[in-house]
Amino acid sequence: MNDLQNATVTVLGAYGHTGRFVVAELVARGFVPILAGRDQAKLDAFAAAYPDLDVRLASADDAASLDRALAGADAVINAAGPFAATAAPVIEAALRARIPYVDVAAEIEANTDTFRLFADRAREAGIVVLPAMAFYGGLGDLLATAAMDDWTEADEVHIAYGLDGWHPTSGTRATGAVSRRRNGGRHVRYTGGELTYHDDERQLQKWSFPEPTGVREVFAEFSMADVVTVPSHLPVPEVCTYMAVEAARDLMSPDTPEPVAVSEDGRSAQLFVVEAVVVSGLLERSAVASGRDIYAVSAPLAVEAVHRILTGQTTTTAGVASAGALFDAADVLHALAPHLTVDLRTESVPGRLEVQ
Ligand SMILES: NC(=O)c1ccc[n+]([C@@H]2O[C@H](COP(=O)([O-])OP(=O)(O)OC[C@H]3O[C@@H](n4cnc5c(N)ncnc54)[C@H](OP(=O)(O)O)[C@@H]3O)[C@@H](O)[C@H]2O)c1
Repeated sequence: MNDLQNATVTVLGAYGHTGRFVVAELVARGFVPILAGRDQAKLDAFAAAYPDLDVRLASADDAASLDRALAGADAVINAAGPFAATAAPVIEAALRARIPYVDVAAEIEANTDTFRLFADRAREAGIVVLPAMAFYGGLGDLLATAAMDDWTEADEVHIAYGLDGWHPTSGTRATGAVSRRRNGGRHVRYTGGELTYHDDERQLQKWSFPEPTGVREVFAEFSMADVVTVPSHLPVPEVCTYMAVEAARDLMSPDTPEPVAVSEDGRSAQLFVVEAVVVSGLLERSAVASGRDIYAVSAPLAVEAVHRILTGQTTTTAGVASAGALFDAADVLHALAPHLTVDLRTESVPGRLEVQ
């Protein structure tokens, strides 16, 4: 499809915190969203702001309702989490409808399942399935891939999240609870070419972000979805992600309130900087992105992906692939301005990565 005017995209979880940003971004870019969700009253209340849009009641545990929600759509964005419960049934519906599937899942086990369960079937069906096309999982993968540039392999990938705080939504909290149940409360790391689970205490270290952020305390091995997406296509045996202590403590505290909008577009005041460093021998390359509100920025990531999939700007037209594998990573990152400020440093420099 070259003409995206009136291309329709079903958004499951349309009235959720992230789904609302996705719907707004689709409308801003000329797509026609189909508003789907499992609660009629919430759907109707949300849809009042979009009187021209189609509204469809659909729940992940009701396949027929998903088929109705996807009927006639050109693509589906799944913003309904926890994805342990929603990813597989919505991908099944996308396979039946033969349309591309994009989700914003930040769940290591659910993302792993998507690759494991659907790689062959998506390839056979001739559709693209793109998991974790959001702040966690998608952005870090794009940054690491762009930083790699012409390197074909690397020894390590490090992705550091410098958030000035993190007010989690109820969906984020529910997702954390599901992940803890699934991994038995253990921590996960990607090392030696595989995901491993362990009970070690998280280590506090320092990470030197580019100015103006500067040196910040981070928890090492605070694993996010990047430990699935990055090694899904980059030949690298070690992937480590780091989280600013302020954000980690906010997330872990039951008292942290939900995000509050400070501007008309619904975005909170939360600021982020994400740095990906790839290490090969004694050399490093890096890429940095900064912006405001990790939930809001997930919408342009997911919508840009749909745009590129529907216009054939992908490396493959079928199968499960992460953002870095599916797209020209640097091009996607640059296309995301003004949502993101990006600095790619693909010149190889002597290793400065010194996590203390
Ligand atoms: N990777 C990332 O960086 C990233 C970024 C943003 C969000 N996320 C993930 O996206 C998910 C949503 O986050 P959020 O902030 O938007 O949370 P939220 O505001 O709580 O919204 C969750 C939405 O999912 C819907 N939902 C849940 N289970 C469903 C099911 N079985 N069938 C249909 N709809 C269902 C909810 O409907 P009800 O209200 O009716 O329950 C609600 O609309 C979370 O898992 C979060 O971790 C990831």
